Amino acid sequence: MLRVAIDGPGGTGKSTIAKAAAERLGLEYIDTGAMYRSIALKSIRNGVDAENEPEVVKMLEGTTIDFNDNRVYLDGEDVSGLIRTNEISMTASTISKLGPVRAKLDEVSRHIASVKNVVMEGRDIGTAVIPDAEVKIFMTADPNVRAKRRYEQLLAQGKPADICRIREEIEKRDYQDSHREINPLKQADDAIFMDTTEMSIEENIEAVCEAIESSGRA
Ligand code: DC
Repeated sequence: MLRVAIDGPGGTGKSTIAKAAAERLGLEYIDTGAMYRSIALKSIRNGVDAENEPEVVKMLEGTTIDFNDNRVYLDGEDVSGLIRTNEISMTASTISKLGPVRAKLDEVSRHIASVKNVVMEGRDIGTAVIPDAEVKIFMTADPNVRAKRRYEQLLAQGKPADICRIREEIEKRDYQDSHREINPLKQADDAIFMDTTEMSIEENIEAVCEAIESSGRA
């Protein structure tokens, strides 16, 4: 059994790194943020206020989230291409404060980690979802660098971008994710700390693979 938990704030490059490391080592990559994003998408589509717990609970009844081949399925629909907008990022952060949402997604995540060797990435994987994971990494980067990376990513995709606004949203989401009551973003005591501010993507992938390999489980 090999379960790698990677946590950290948004925009650190966690997803890119975790996915590449998982591919190199033949592990399954699970992006738990994509699940929160899918629930956020459903709330926006259905006009459900992400802070209204009773309404969100009603919406969750019968809602299914699945992963297959790095794609996320909401009620059977592949929504992978629809969940990467700013609106969804903020709504996902807001809806993730609700206990019933966390309970449901924890259950889905734990089930996957019990049947597969995974690199699972999110905010509370090492602290709450798989506290006994074989490898834990906490990844962070300077907020200015995170904003710049996001800005350049949007420009490269030919999308409009405002670096000041991106910086503000990063700060707001960091605050919200690390100050919520249930399982906030925080480093597990036994996690390896990785500051990626000065690292290239390749260096970062190497560092993660090395941490996994040196656990003796890979
Ligand atoms: O990693 P991401 O940016 O795709 O995550 C979107 C939001 O989902 C994030 O702001 C907070 C929430 N989230 C969470 O609360 N717990 C997780 N394990 C993963 C994401």
